[in-house]
Amino acid sequence: MRAYSLIAPAKINFYLEIIGDRPDGYHELAMVMQSVSLADQIDLRANGIEQFRLTCDHPEVPADQTNLAYKAATLMAQQFPQAFQTYGAVDIAIHKRIPVGAGLAGGSTDAAAVLVGLDLIWKLGLTQPEIQQLGARLGSDVPFCVTGGTAIATGRGERLAPLAALDPLYVVLAKYRSLSVSTAWAYTTYRQQFGHTYTQTDGLEGRRQRVHSGAMVLAVSHNDGKAIAQHLHNDLEKIVLPALPQVQQLRAELAHLSSLGAMMSGSGPSVFALATSRANAETIQAELKAALPDPDLEVWVAQTIASGIQLKQ
Ligand code: C5P
Repeated sequence: MRAYSLIAPAKINFYLEIIGDRPDGYHELAMVMQSVSLADQIDLRANGIEQFRLTCDHPEVPADQTNLAYKAATLMAQQFPQAFQTYGAVDIAIHKRIPVGAGLAGGSTDAAAVLVGLDLIWKLGLTQPEIQQLGARLGSDVPFCVTGGTAIATGRGERLAPLAALDPLYVVLAKYRSLSVSTAWAYTTYRQQFGHTYTQTDGLEGRRQRVHSGAMVLAVSHNDGKAIAQHLHNDLEKIVLPALPQVQQLRAELAHLSSLGAMMSGSGPSVFALATSRANAETIQAELKAALPDPDLEVWVAQTIASGIQLKQ
């Protein structure tokens, strides 16, 4: 088969702790990542030419070489020139459902889908770790997006330790359509404000042993939704919430409406709340829309899922 449709799920962060500067200029992190059912669809079709072509049904997503999904295809062509020559390029169609610039890894998951799809179309037979290694060259979240589910992520976010699958938890996701946050800006600003608290590079190893994610990892291991909600944490909230009062208000409203808890995801500005059931999530969704009646505010109900990139059935 020369055409595949892939489902590319978004992720949320149950936990994001910034440990310090890395020698490569990135930040050393300790995170607990979780895939959710809100997903893009990526269609790949062999096009019989030497040029990758990309389309996307979302006006704010660049349909050119700057798109991370396009960069993923170019990387594969560089790495596997023989397969590229034999099978040619593909048309990439992105059906965008994940909000853009939201902290939900929308761009990273599309890139992960292109890596997985080209592996199939070019009959490369790569292992998941091999695909993840390629993904790490594209972005810190790409390796997680390949396998998804629930995982501890350390290093830049690319070093993964899978955790046992959770019983599905319901999640209400909310984002102001017109607001977006640059991940690079969030980390640079964090460094400016909190760099003095960073562990020095030579002490990173010791500091890695003293991350505070233990309670969250335990909560996930015990499959305990209530405890997960209690231990939600994201250091980047300290930067993004003061800069975007609308998001601060959105987070406060969601925390008020959810009996479990709410938190910003990644570098934001999307915010999520955990819910006890689909009905509870739909109630929170309706109440949030009533409390903040702004047509710019988008709200989704999703659930946690145990997988990353999947072929569409
Ligand atoms: O890896 P990715 O391209 O998604 O990262 C975007 C930006 O976020 C990086 O250029 C860097 O400024 C910042 N970042 C960081 N530390 C990480 C991940 C990202 O400083 N662990």
